[in-house]
Amino acid sequence: MGSIKGVILAGGLGARMLPVTKVTNKHLLPVYDKPMVFYPIQTMINAGIDEILLVTGGQHAGDFLQLLGDGRDLGVRKLQYTYQKGEGGIADALRLAEDFADGGRICVVLGDNIIQKNIRRAASDFAAQPRGAKILLKEVPDAERFGVAEVNGDRVVRIVEKPSRPATNLAVIGIYLYDAYVFEVIKTLKPSGRGELEITDVNNAYIRQGTLTYQVLDGWWSDAGTFDSLLRAGGLVRDQGANLVD
Ligand code: DAU
Repeated sequence: MGSIKGVILAGGLGARMLPVTKVTNKHLLPVYDKPMVFYPIQTMINAGIDEILLVTGGQHAGDFLQLLGDGRDLGVRKLQYTYQKGEGGIADALRLAEDFADGGRICVVLGDNIIQKNIRRAASDFAAQPRGAKILLKEVPDAERFGVAEVNGDRVVRIVEKPSRPATNLAVIGIYLYDAYVFEVIKTLKPSGRGELEITDVNNAYIRQGTLTYQVLDGWWSDAGTFDSLLRAGGLVRDQGANLVD
């Protein structure tokens, strides 16, 4: 597992959280008692991933350096930073990690995704997988807010981004494991209706290749990228804890 590197995507302009995000980056807002970005970092550390690239953007990128420094206080052995211009989408931000990945495997965590437990089993299963990608799914009551997966036994058949009528209640959470093929896929993508390079299109390319596996996540999962989900995530962290290892 030691060879998997981590990529945290904390770019974007936080438009759903204006005016707060006029003066700070969304991922620096507190989720209960810690800045949001601490949680994805801990998710990596708990999975044994301690070489991390943080992708950020916007006008407050320097604040990440001030908060995280070299990352050692959080257990990061090697922390690197890069800057995404504009808001071209999750896959556009991930594209910036190609040199960092250096032909190896990566674990990508969206900067606003928080989990109660850990992804150790997913990471070790992925390490044993000959090639391809692995995604994590979670049953949710509001699937229309997310990428939604249709599964057939142990295979994902299709993922639809924010469908108005979701076919299942299985959201694709913002934690993805990829081999280096991901960067070839990104080069083929076209912007979606919302003008972004979509991670859902990346995952659908792996489905077509027949190499996408999945696991249903154990424990709660929340994004924190809207005022409501931020509030919800804070309550979950306070009442049930986050990034638990057992
Ligand atoms: O939270 C999980 C969901 O995240 C998935 O179910 C969806 O399939 C996926 O598209 C994504 O949906 P959102 O529309 O909620 O993603 P959002 O635009 O809020 O971006 C999530 C994070 O990704 C954000 O906190 C930072 C990073 N990001 C996003 C964009 C648009 C970037 O680093 N750069 C970007 O340009």
